[in-house]
Amino acid sequence: MKQASRTATLTLDGKSIELPVLSGSTGPDVIDIRKLYSQLGVFTFDPGYTSTASCESRITYIDGEKGELLYRGYPIDQLAEKSHYLEVCNLLLYGKLPTPAQLEDFTNRVTRHTMLHEQIQYFFRGFRRDAHPMAIVCGVVGAMSAFYHDSTDINDPWQREVASIRMIAKIPTICAWAYKYSVGQPFVYPRNDLDYASNFLHMCFAVPAEPYFVDPIIARAMDRIFILHADHEQNASTSTVRLAGSSQANPFACIAAGVASLWGPAHGGANQACLEMLREIGTVDRIPEYIARAKDKNDPFRLMGFGHRVYKNFDPRAKVMKQSADEVLGLLGIENNETLKVAKELERIALEDEYFIEKKLYPNVDFYSGIILEAIGFPTSMFTPIFALARTVGWIAQWKEMIEDPDGKIGRPRQLYTGATRRDYVDIEAR
Ligand code: CMC
Repeated sequence: MKQASRTATLTLDGKSIELPVLSGSTGPDVIDIRKLYSQLGVFTFDPGYTSTASCESRITYIDGEKGELLYRGYPIDQLAEKSHYLEVCNLLLYGKLPTPAQLEDFTNRVTRHTMLHEQIQYFFRGFRRDAHPMAIVCGVVGAMSAFYHDSTDINDPWQREVASIRMIAKIPTICAWAYKYSVGQPFVYPRNDLDYASNFLHMCFAVPAEPYFVDPIIARAMDRIFILHADHEQNASTSTVRLAGSSQANPFACIAAGVASLWGPAHGGANQACLEMLREIGTVDRIPEYIARAKDKNDPFRLMGFGHRVYKNFDPRAKVMKQSADEVLGLLGIENNETLKVAKELERIALEDEYFIEKKLYPNVDFYSGIILEAIGFPTSMFTPIFALARTVGWIAQWKEMIEDPDGKIGRPRQLYTGATRRDYVDIEAR
């Protein structure tokens, strides 16, 4: 963190204090309020953290006005075009683009950890067949703490590293098996001769009865989806991971907390909700009805896949995703897909509508991802687990950064209390 370049003066009840203003390498400055309570006896109030920087981080930067997303300084569109997921994982975890030898070593380490402890199968089998795969993923990730005791000591750097590699390596197996379980097919073991995305597709779609060929273009599209979801600074699930980790809980428990937070439709669950919405709209002529509903204050309906807390411009991930949707559907010969037509027309109409312009609502990453995932063959219930798979590396990078920060403290927000003040207990007969 840079030193304070200037101070902000806050005056309350005639008493003034100077608050340091800190600058990062880019982005808005922050007012350091850590001494506010001890000096003035008041808290700040910011539910939803709309004006609060909860931590210092060197991993991911978003410029919401420009619509820019950088992983360790590198623009997301360049990474999506030129890199691949494991290289991006390496970048997010260790801070720089790896040399060929470093990448080979990292890839080997991830590849050697793709299998799950055989007994975890019994854990899977305890779930109901109709369980949502996110419920299974959340449970199994948490259960890893019970299977990998030798990597739960957060104070040991080696154990932290092993836990990180294990999670990146095993999360595709967990997600694929959650899918296999829900469709009643046998679990397919990982194949270490395949790249990360191809191996995931193999574990999802291969069956023992016949050979399965992974189309390299589909694998590339899958890999790109992973890159686009890999990290997104201090969003709800990442902040959940950090908060859980701040109590020094083990890494598997922290990532399970992140999976749970991601599930909601305002966050990672939006990809499932968006495709369901596009299907419900069904045809282009019904779009105006849904636009009107989204604008109606008395209707809770929102255009899923639209809007973002930080982006007040195009979500750069949505741009890449839209291009990828065209490529994948073209390859599969389904470019006239009705859902894609509805999505494109909905985007066009919304972007010309005064309500969406005024509120700066643009398509986000979830708007086109579901169309690609559906074309690849995934049911909607798998969309959010795939987001969780890809985001695992981001959660881990952020968790490690927090644990390795010597000034780290347990997260403990305060509140504005508006409940009853002190009163005496009344015996039940007297109420
Ligand atoms: N459709 C219609 N109106 C919207 C939408 C939408 N999708 N999003 C925001 N608004 C309106 C909202 O009604 C509010 O209007 P007003 O100021 O008149 O009350 C205004 O825009 C600001 O909305 P907000 O809810 O205060 O903004 P937020 O920053 O708290 O919420 C959001 C951000 C992503 C939760 C929200 O835009 C939303 O619910 N979008 C749909 C769900 C979605 O696509 N989520 C995925 C986000 S990207 C993937 C991820 O990171 O998880």
